[in-house]
Order: sequence, then C-alpha cells, then structure tokens
Amino acid sequence: MSVSRAELPKQETKETRETLVSDFKQRTLEMEAGKNWDLFYKRNTTHFFKDRHWTTREFEELNACREFESQRLVLLEAGCGVGNCLFPLLEEDRNIFIYACDFSPRAVDFVKNHALYRPERCKAFRCDLTQDDLRHHVPQASVDVVTLIFVLSAIHPDKMARALENIFRVLKPGGSVLFRDYGLNDHAMHRFKAANRLAENFYVRQDGTRSYFFSKERLAELFEGQGFRSMANDYVFRETVNKKEGLCVPRVFLQSKFAKPGPSQTSP
Ligand SMILES: C[S@@+](CC[C@H](N)C(=O)[O-])C[C@H]1O[C@@H](n2cnc3c(N)ncnc32)[C@H](O)[C@@H]1O
Repeated sequence: MSVSRAELPKQETKETRETLVSDFKQRTLEMEAGKNWDLFYKRNTTHFFKDRHWTTREFEELNACREFESQRLVLLEAGCGVGNCLFPLLEEDRNIFIYACDFSPRAVDFVKNHALYRPERCKAFRCDLTQDDLRHHVPQASVDVVTLIFVLSAIHPDKMARALENIFRVLKPGGSVLFRDYGLNDHAMHRFKAANRLAENFYVRQDGTRSYFFSKERLAELFEGQGFRSMANDYVFRETVNKKEGLCVPRVFLQSKFAKPGPSQTSP
C-alpha cells in the first residue's frame, strides 16, 4: 500500500507565497471552472488519463466494506471524468452498482456511450459537487463507498467543504470515502511558475483547470470538519520516469480513507 518517509513535505517558502493572478482573473477561473473541464475533454476525449486498475488492489477496503460475501456494494464515483476508475471496477467486481458524476457534460456523455455502460450496473449524471445536491440522483444515506480520485484538488479550496458535505449526505452511516490526490510538494507543484499561483498550494494550468496540493493535516481537518472520522491518511511517494526528458521525478500523493460515523458512533 503506501510508502511512508520520515521527512514531511516542505511548506511553501516566502518567495513562493505571492499571488500574481488578479482577483478578476481568479473570479473568471472560478465561474468558468466547469467550462474549462468540458473543453479539456473536448481536446483530449478519452485519451488523457489511463485506466486506473490500481483501485481494488490499493483500496482493499472495497472488499472489506462488505458485511457478507454476496452483498451488492453501492458506490459513488464523485468526479468520474470519462470513467477510468469506473469501468475497471465494473469489470473486476460483478456485484457492484456505481453512481458516477462529473462537472463536465462531455465527460458524462463519454461514460454513457462506453461499451460497458449498462443502466442496471451504473448511473452517470452531471453534477457540480459544490452546488448541486447529490440527492437529486442518489438516495440519502444509500451509498457504501465514495471514491474521490484526483477531484478535490480541482475544486476551489473555499468550496471543498461544501463538496464533502454533499457527499456525506448520500453515504450510509459507517460508509467510507476512499481518497487519492496530489500531495504537497509533488513534482507537478514545483513545475508551476509564480504566475500560475492562485493561493496557498493552489495553481492554475495553461488550460484554466486548477490543482490544489494537500498536506495530510489540511485534508484531515477538511473531512473532520464535515463529520467524517479519519481511518487512514498517508503520503505515497513514487518516482516516475519522464522518458521524453530523460528524468526521474518524485511524485507525492495522498491516499486516505474517511468514514461517516455509524449509528452507534459520533464524530470526534
Ligand atoms: C483530474 S480529473 C480526474 C477524473 C477521474 N476521477 C480519474 O481519476 O480519472 C478531475 C475531474 O474532476 C471533475 N470536477 C472538477 N470540479 C468538479 C466539481 N465541482 N464537481 C464535479 N466534478 C468536478 C472534472 O470535470 C474532472 O473530470
């Protein structure tokens, strides 16, 4: 599972703390966040992200979530993109129903048009997690597991809590959120120039999509603030080889699990 290192990621330095992006530009980016993700999928179609076959291997919790072997798990993939997690999971686990939502109508259409999409096994819908009540599509307290994979980082830090509150409502008591996203000091964070910095640990890419880099303390605070309990929350350190540039680059991710307290438990 995760590889831990003694040293913790460094904080931003004084020099990297300045924000050069105007308030007007920041507001425009926020207003156009959905459009920018939709254009991302127009340009890249289904070819940008690789299928994520690691989900069941790394998140053994998916199987552990079953109270009995033949239980049909209900999962919500929040921010599903074009289904790179969803379809491998549907293939690997026959006894699962998956709700899948995304900001981008194009991404949702790609999911619905996928050869493995079957209404009796999954339901995809468009949703802004920070604004649209998930309960319009998913019954309250009905989901066993929510996967949140490289999605919270794309949401403005001021709105992350709202997205988690929304997710909390559809999770069953005792259900979990399986989380993986960018960690503080990931290589991608250090590649951003000062001109791309929007706020502390928050950056904008050339295409207008944005990315936050989490410390585990900040992440735990966010989830616990919405009533979740931290079950696991660790940095994962990897090295990836950039063949084109002949470089080996250090990657930092955060892999975590947060649970909605069960009927007999209260949040800390
Ligand atoms: C980096 S992609 C990850 C996609 C997918 N989870 C995966 O692992 O391949 C981030 C996704 O989050 C979606 N997203 C960003 N903000 C969102 C929001 N407020 N509500 C719902 N989805 C959002 C984007 O449209 C995009 O598909």
